[in-house]
Amino acid sequence: MTDRVLIVDFGSQVTQLIARRVRENGVYCEIHPYNKVTEDSIAAYDPKAIILSGGPASVTAATAPRAPDAIFDTGLPVLGICYGQQAMCAQLGGAVEPSDHREFGRAFVDVSRECALFNGVWRVGGREQVWMSHGDRVTSLPPGFEPIAVSDGAPFAAIADEARRYYGVQFHPEVVHTPDGAKLLANFILGVAGCRGDWTMAAFRAQAVQSIRDQVGDGQVICGLSGGVDSSVAAVLLHEAIGDQLTCIFVDHGLLRKGEAEEVVEMFGSHYSIPLVHRNAADMFIGALDGVDDPERKRKIIGGLFIDVFEQEAAKIGGAAFLAQGTLYPDVIESVSAIGGPSVTIKSHHNVGGLPERMNMALVEPLRELFKDEVRALGRELDMPDKLVDRHPFPGPGLAIRIPGAITPEKLDILREADSIYLDEIRNAGLYDEIWQAFAVLLPVRTVGVMGDDRTYEYVCGLRAVTSTDGMTADSYAFDHAFLANTATRIINQVKGVNRVVYDVTSKPPGTIEWE
Ligand code: XMP
Repeated sequence: MTDRVLIVDFGSQVTQLIARRVRENGVYCEIHPYNKVTEDSIAAYDPKAIILSGGPASVTAATAPRAPDAIFDTGLPVLGICYGQQAMCAQLGGAVEPSDHREFGRAFVDVSRECALFNGVWRVGGREQVWMSHGDRVTSLPPGFEPIAVSDGAPFAAIADEARRYYGVQFHPEVVHTPDGAKLLANFILGVAGCRGDWTMAAFRAQAVQSIRDQVGDGQVICGLSGGVDSSVAAVLLHEAIGDQLTCIFVDHGLLRKGEAEEVVEMFGSHYSIPLVHRNAADMFIGALDGVDDPERKRKIIGGLFIDVFEQEAAKIGGAAFLAQGTLYPDVIESVSAIGGPSVTIKSHHNVGGLPERMNMALVEPLRELFKDEVRALGRELDMPDKLVDRHPFPGPGLAIRIPGAITPEKLDILREADSIYLDEIRNAGLYDEIWQAFAVLLPVRTVGVMGDDRTYEYVCGLRAVTSTDGMTADSYAFDHAFLANTATRIINQVKGVNRVVYDVTSKPPGTIEWE
């Protein structure tokens, strides 16, 4: 088994980044909510090191979340980050107090002692840039600890008890704004904890194939294929694991992009010999969405109909005990977050948690431990064609969430044409692989224009393109103006029903990638 790290989550917004940094070093890790970690769960997971995340609570509050005491009985190395450092100090005999010198954003620490955490990265006497986000601070250290770095706002900006291999940092090493943070984390997991960095996609593939076989036995599995990278990689992995026990179902819900159904069927048909059912259910979906303008209702209706179709198709093959999906790790983390599930549901992604209760198939989710870029790496490991692996993501609810307000067949046709021209221009300009996701949206407003000698009164088309690594945060892509102007002209000239084009420059946060 590969070495693993346990990340105990206290609900920080950036806990996932700790996981990313650990995995970038070839070490497998999982995030477990602090209130689900017990002596038994630690023994079962069998980590070589434990990292305590940051979190929004105050250690000084009566109801403050505690690090499970079992952690300190394991003899394993522990790194506490921000709230994690404070919780560790408070529980091991130190003190934490609210401070009127709060530090948010960029700060500097002065390195005061050598230690294994700083090895080869920071030297005594150095002044190093870090990213802080704290109000409380540690004011006295537990027995055995020494300060190793100080900042203006935190006398114990970094601390160590090297005999017990306990370290604590008030700053966030997992964010890029702590330029050496990744190296410090590598020192902890590879140096201090001695993890081998041998978690590769080849190792993951072998392990995933085995666990799929263990889970499904000789049962039949159906896999909803959307043509996107997640479900495609899941299907190919499942096929490797269980061969003809797998049937893929591609549902054309009438909300696909231009030419998409043909492309997906062709791509799967020409590369794989996986049984693929192509079900045209456009009338059913479009009918059910008639007049529905609320984004969450659209998502719920579409999610429910998907399950209906999967169940009907499962019945046709004599019943399937399992439904496979390409659920990814960010969705899983969100639904088990330390603060009791997502505090606010931003959107119901129907492949996580949003499945109707009545569904009578068990879920198989072979990618639920991976981030999007890791899924792509797995796709390459499985020798999948670049055209499939590098495809931009496309959401399950399809074009329904790219037409704010009620959808109509007419609007869907307009959007398909505009979107296809936009993507064509992006491909022609050689930008497709530079952009994480690009698409057009059709706004529910009409504006006045003039074409030739005539007045026009038509819809506005919005263009969106973002860069991202995993869709959790994103920046608007900076096209040059000539590209946008040219694309706008082509869309307005060629798509009947659009007379104005706008470009969305919102990042995520505060926006989201899709408009609904
Ligand atoms: P947002 O809009 O939440 O999107 O910033 C983040 C990424 O998720 C995709 N997305 C979905 N994918 N089912 C999916 O499979 C969904 O319901 C769904 N909603 C959004 C979105 O396209 C982007 O890549």
